[in-house]
Amino acid sequence: MQPFYLTCKPRKKPMPPLDRRTFLKSATLAAAGTNTILLGAATLEQAPAPTAANDRINLALIGAGGQGQGDTRTAITVPGVKLVAVADCYDGRLAHAKELWGGPSGNEITTTRDYKELLTRKDIDAVLIATPDHWHRQVAIDCMKAGKDVYLEKPMIHIYDDGPAIIETARTTNRILQVGSQRVSSIVYAKAKELLAAGAIGKLNMIAARWDRNSSIGAWNYTVPLDASPETCDWPRFLGNAPKISFNAERFFQWRKWKDYGSGVAGDLFVHLFSGTHFITGSEGPTRAMATGATRFWNDGRDVPDVLLGLFDYPEGFNLSLRVNFVNGGEESEGFLFTGSEGTMEIAGTTLTVSRTPREKEPGYTVSTFTNDMQKRFLTQYRAKYPAPDPVQDAVGTTQKYAAPRGYSDSYDHFQNFFNSVRTRKQPVEDATFGFRAAGAALLSNLSLEKNAIVHWNPKTMKLA
Ligand SMILES: NC(=O)c1ccc[n+]([C@@H]2O[C@H](COP(=O)([O-])OP(=O)(O)OC[C@H]3O[C@@H](n4cnc5c(N)ncnc54)[C@H](O)[C@@H]3O)[C@@H](O)[C@H]2O)c1
Repeated sequence: MQPFYLTCKPRKKPMPPLDRRTFLKSATLAAAGTNTILLGAATLEQAPAPTAANDRINLALIGAGGQGQGDTRTAITVPGVKLVAVADCYDGRLAHAKELWGGPSGNEITTTRDYKELLTRKDIDAVLIATPDHWHRQVAIDCMKAGKDVYLEKPMIHIYDDGPAIIETARTTNRILQVGSQRVSSIVYAKAKELLAAGAIGKLNMIAARWDRNSSIGAWNYTVPLDASPETCDWPRFLGNAPKISFNAERFFQWRKWKDYGSGVAGDLFVHLFSGTHFITGSEGPTRAMATGATRFWNDGRDVPDVLLGLFDYPEGFNLSLRVNFVNGGEESEGFLFTGSEGTMEIAGTTLTVSRTPREKEPGYTVSTFTNDMQKRFLTQYRAKYPAPDPVQDAVGTTQKYAAPRGYSDSYDHFQNFFNSVRTRKQPVEDATFGFRAAGAALLSNLSLEKNAIVHWNPKTMKLA
């Protein structure tokens, strides 16, 4: 069965700019009927369908762990896309890739420990890279130089030097590169962007975003398979340029816990929040950052914090505060609160709630401590200047909720956007520059924590200042 959102009619006309009357009207309509406006899958409007058999995109997966397998499941549901090869350095994942996608014979895909074997294959058009962070740069550059378009999982970089190298290679090889913060393609985020630009909450002054968890898996203690050994895991290939140490199954399967392979909660989760912030506000990034945090609970040998808070100044005149807490004592929760001069906009999962409280039209008064005569005289003058509000006409405070249809997948839309770019040769929104601006901003938190200082970044030139 088709996912529900695929059956939604795409919106034909752009939304009119949201003035107060429009907002109130739509809020009233919503109140009269359904309270929540269902969003349509806008990207379907732009999706050029594959036209011929030779229009098929052959995809290879490099890094077939949790995200690589999940991404692939989604990617191959986009019409005209076929998985043909998988590279990974744990044999169990190669074997499972054959179980999942190899067909009855197991041979409908090829598998290898060495991703470089895939580079010479002319039949591979695009690669999906979902290795640990410390391999992103090398694999992405090798693939682009071999003529492949690249879907590169977030964070785009592991260290700052990776950014310019990846951007430059995408430019010189003329390859498509899309980074994997899928929310950038979400219809919920697109609506938030549209409403913010239309002035739904007035002038933006603050964004608070969080991603909290309270479980062992949430804190990256992924299961180590029973057969983990130097025979089944290609340890030297996993290490790459990381410091050479002897085989350690925990590091192989729970790599996020160490800086040598991952970038902590900043690179893992802040980066999604930055991608969302930059997409919705149109900003290129912060100029100044400070962070604090520590390992509060998961004292399991990791060298990255499990609680991290960051504060960021944006040149557009708003502040961003971010929090990741792996010890939150409750359910996993992720979301944004945008605060403006006339209201707030909240994203929670696949819903968006806009609450408007436009500024009062009169300044108000504090006269009760004055003499009765003074109070009377003051109020007469005041009401002459500011007539008493009409309780119906001047009612302030409206709330409007928007939601993605049940079963909506921003990952599907993100892959659809990537494959559209592969076909049209038009760079996607979340290209290498966008990816560096999001990851570069995220890694400021690690830098600030490390230096115990405020750190500076030029979001235009993408350089530490
Ligand atoms: N977009 C998202 O929401 C999202 C969610 C989770 C993870 N991710 C990203 O996806 C990437 C992978 O994360 P994961 O959770 O799937 O990790 P994982 O450990 O489950 O999978 C990583 C896989 O890469 C393989 N690998 C390591 N080095 C390799 C190499 N040189 N060549 C080929 N394969 C290699 C490992 O064997 C492993 O199977 C990370 O960059 C992570 O940040 C993104």
